Amino acid sequence: MPHNSKPTGKLISFEGSEGSGKSTQIIRLAAHLLKLKRDVVSVREPGGTEIGEQIRNIIVHNSKGDEMCAETELLLFTAARAQLVRQVIAPALSKGSVVLSDRYLDSSTVYQGIARNLASDPVEQINQFAIGKIMPNLTIVIDVPTEVSLARIRLRASDVPDRMERENVHFYNKVREGYLLLAKGMPERFCLIDGTKSEDEIEKKIWEAVKDRL
Ligand code: TYD
Repeated sequence: MPHNSKPTGKLISFEGSEGSGKSTQIIRLAAHLLKLKRDVVSVREPGGTEIGEQIRNIIVHNSKGDEMCAETELLLFTAARAQLVRQVIAPALSKGSVVLSDRYLDSSTVYQGIARNLASDPVEQINQFAIGKIMPNLTIVIDVPTEVSLARIRLRASDVPDRMERENVHFYNKVREGYLLLAKGMPERFCLIDGTKSEDEIEKKIWEAVKDRL
């Protein structure tokens, strides 16, 4: 980067099953970036905008949630994403910020496409329509065995599990396999991390992957 020029914005997405430790690692990565004086914007999906948070409520907490069909679910997740991209992510990138996103398009590919068995072509087209040109520069997948993920969900669920969390082992196995498949198929964008390692080790691995791409 030439001296004094504005840094280029980067989008780094975090993916993995519930309880994979994404949010802890996002906080740790943000601290590294702030030390380098980078401007950091953290967002979470679904949500991150007022409209997105309302959509999140419908998807996650709606009492009629169990009646929601997979197609509706896909369109709601991607609608929240379309808003987030235009309202928050794209403006932040054009200012040179590093945007850390807790989930992004790959969540729809894996949860709605692979785990809920929607056809992959429409899922990909809808995903692309929602994000426009804003693809992640790097996607970190934190991989944990399904039993570990489910045990962590149970531990942290202080109240009733939400609609996604009520899914069974078979569903979460598909989610895990889906992420492994994506990471293997696109090694230039994905960085696969073993989520059973210590938080410090995971942090180190993530920082190694990120610092080369800033
Ligand atoms: P959340 O409470 O944010 O879970 P987590 O902390 O694991 O990210 O809930 C998000 C849920 O929505 C999670 O179960 C994954 C699911 N999801 C999809 O199924 N498709 C999507 O496109 C996105 C963004 C999330």
